[in-house]
Order: sequence, then C-alpha cells, then structure tokens
Amino acid sequence: MTGMDADEIRRIYLQFMVERGHVVIPRAPLIPHNDPTTLFTGSGMQPLLPFLLGQDHAQGRRLTDSQTCLRVQDIDEVGDNRHTTFFEMLGNWSLGDYFKRDQLAQFWEFLTERVGLDPNRIYVSCFSGDPANGIPKDTESAGIWTELFSAAGISADQVDLGTEEHGGAVGAQGARIAFYGKKNWWCRGGNAENMPVGEPGGPDSEVFYLYPEIDHDPAYGRYCHQNCDCGRFIELGNSVFMEYKKTETGFEPLPRRNVDYGGGLARIAAAAIDSPDVYRINLLWPIIDRLQELSGKSYETDTEAMRVISDHLRGATFLAVDGVKPSNKEQGYVMRRLVRRAVRYAFDLGLEQNFFPQIIPTVAQMYAADYPEVVERGDQVIAVLVKEEQSFRRTLRKGIKQLKTYSESGVSGIELFTLYDTYGFPVELSTEEARKSRIPVSDNWRAEFDAKMAEQRARSQGASKMHIQPLAEAAQGGPRG
Ligand code: ALA
Repeated sequence: MTGMDADEIRRIYLQFMVERGHVVIPRAPLIPHNDPTTLFTGSGMQPLLPFLLGQDHAQGRRLTDSQTCLRVQDIDEVGDNRHTTFFEMLGNWSLGDYFKRDQLAQFWEFLTERVGLDPNRIYVSCFSGDPANGIPKDTESAGIWTELFSAAGISADQVDLGTEEHGGAVGAQGARIAFYGKKNWWCRGGNAENMPVGEPGGPDSEVFYLYPEIDHDPAYGRYCHQNCDCGRFIELGNSVFMEYKKTETGFEPLPRRNVDYGGGLARIAAAAIDSPDVYRINLLWPIIDRLQELSGKSYETDTEAMRVISDHLRGATFLAVDGVKPSNKEQGYVMRRLVRRAVRYAFDLGLEQNFFPQIIPTVAQMYAADYPEVVERGDQVIAVLVKEEQSFRRTLRKGIKQLKTYSESGVSGIELFTLYDTYGFPVELSTEEARKSRIPVSDNWRAEFDAKMAEQRARSQGASKMHIQPLAEAAQGGPRG
C-alpha cells in the first residue's frame, strides 16, 4: 500500500507523461461537441478521433490528459465495489509515434515504480487474434510483458482463453498473460462486427490488479481468470494499439499506428490504498462520509444506497458544470435519471428533505484544485440540481405508494407510463423499483410504454425525442473510475 491519493496520482501521472515528451491537453466536456453519434464523452479517445484517424494535432504526436467520462450503460452495476457511471480516465496517446514496447514499459513503470503497486499482483491480457479478419494474435505484446515480468523476477506463463465463458470453465491456471478474442479488441462500437465503416480500432492489452483476499465467486464461472467479474481481478488500464480502420470488406491499416491508453484513476487510486472498493478513495469517500452524517446511517449497513447516491450526484454535478439541465430528452433525460435515482435511494436512507445543498459543496471541494470550474459554477449547479430534487420529491412518496398498489396485478407499460407521466418516475427507475419489490413486470413493457408515449406525443403534436438511445456511448467496457 502506497497511500497515495487520487489527486496525487493524477498529478504524478501527467508529470510522468510530460517527462516522456507528452503535452497535457485539457479535459473535454462530458457532452461531445460536433459528434452526433454519441451522447456523452465515454472515453479519453473520443475527442481525439480525427487525430487517431490521421489528422495532425496542433500539440504534436504525444498527448496526455485526465478525461472526465460518463458511461450510463452500466448504471445497474453501480452499487458494486468498482462500477461508477462518472469516472476520470487517465490517458496518453501516441499519434503515429511510439508503439507497443514503449507503451507497455511506461505503464508498467508508472504502476510499479511511481504509484508503487506490487508487481506480484499484476496480471495482463492480450489479443488472441481474429483469423476471419486477418488480424494476428498479439504475440509481440505478450513477449514484451514476459520481459517486464521477468525483469521483476516474476515468471509469466501464457494461457489462451479465447472467451470469458471458456476462461470461467478452465480458469487462468496462474498464468500472468491471458489471451482473449473479442475482449481484447477495442473500438467505440464494442466489437469488430458492429464498427461502422471508417471507424478505427485495434487489439488491446489490459492490466489487472489481484485482490487475493477476495474469494472467487463461482456464480461467475467455475474458475477465476483475468476477465472474471467476481471482483478478484480489477482492471486498472487498457493500452489500445489502434492501427486498423473498418472498411466495407474488413479492415485496412490506418495511415499511422497509434497508442490509445486509458486508465481508471479511481481504480488505480483504490489499488494504491489496497482497497478493492473504489468508494474508499478521496474522490468519493467525502460524499459518503457526509451521507453518513446526514442520515445517521453507516456505509457498512447501507452500502448500496450510499454508493449509488455518491456516484450519481458526482456525475450529475459534472453534467451541470458542463451545462446540461434535466429534461425529457437525450442528455437531460440521463441527468434526470441520475438525480431521481439518487433521491429515491436517499429516501431509503431516511433523507426525506432536500439534501443536495449539503452534498454538492463537498463535491465541489473535492475537485476545487484540479477542476476549478466546479467551484466557479457551484451556484448554478446547486440551482439546477435542487430544482430537480424538489420537483421529484413532490411526487416521490405518492409514486412509491401507487407502485405498491400494483403488487398483485403487476405492471405493464401502461402503469409505467402513469408513473412516468403523473409521478415523474423515469421508466427505468420504476422497473427497477418493481423488481426490487417483486412486483411482476410485463414482458412487453417497453413496447407498451412506447405506445403510450407515442399517443401522448401525437396529442401534444410533436414533443421531441424522449428515450436515451444506445448510441456509441454504449461502447464496450473499460477501466472506469
Ligand atoms: N479507449 C480505451 C478505453 O476506453 C483506452 O478503454
């Protein structure tokens, strides 16, 4: 355990990259500019897309940053010890400059020498190849990893796992380097088949940290392996070797071979304090501490609620800082969902009065030094979020009561529409609530709900797009904060 906190890790990471000739670029807002294909900035590479495709960047070929990101597709996983919707991704890019050797060696040095993580607890994965598309197995990265481990006195066996299912069936068998197929291909669309023509992608190599005190949970497969979801291995960062572009018929090499690295600041900071629980880091714990004070409850007994509230309020704060307002469409709808879900969980903690004004200054304080805009726009943030909190609180209690009346009959899209329209329950919140209370939900709820929405739209002649669309922000997972 090195005891370094997340702010220090962010600072030394950027400094380390500057020493290696990188220029620090500022974070892009959570709402991408000029990119209609995605609702949110969900990875550090998104704002750099044109440069990864070959355009020259004014700051040169080596760039670095810490990018604030939002990934809403994992909202249901928030509550475990490592998923958050909002996170910071440490990033470095080589735009046609260095490649695999320098990238893997510098990441290794950063983790083991600068942050001081235990090399014996580091495991990695590499790409096993895609013969159908003529993309070979990444033996080069595996060879570099073997040398890095060996220099630290660690022997590094290799195992070919292919898929997560197969990994669960046979386990990593102690191998430091595991090969996977789709899991080790990175592009914004998730996998090679879904990539639109012109999209860049490539093989990647992920780094995991082992928490040996966590027992493998067989619910995730018979044996554990790097990509097992039981929480024993936690991904810290991902080096993408972005060297291909999708074509009509397959792939072609990009004009330049790039490195796109992304590391989860919170996960690295959690490893530095030897905690598999990312909520223990200094960019989340002060919110939890405040929630404990305000509610009189403890994190140990109300873990899930405190995790959800702290994650969602931090995300909603940054959305407000970046100019989003709650609404019924697109980014505003996502923000509304985050805020209302936080209020719903707060209700379970007994926080029945408006409490955002007591939490948001804590969030602002946490980011004051590195993101001063959070403090500068503090009043605006509080005004936007408090308005939303107040409006949902007016109907929350009645809505919960209404939902309980469906406990025998169950709910279809029609009741879900009532909860949405009359009580302001985002439909995903209602279905989640129903499942928690074991109220049956009709299989067809989405279609039924959409039909009611369409009717209402027709009535009011032309309200706009309502649902969040699973656009490219639903990119595959990565090391989040
Ligand atoms: N773009 C890569 C990711 O998000 C680094 O995992």
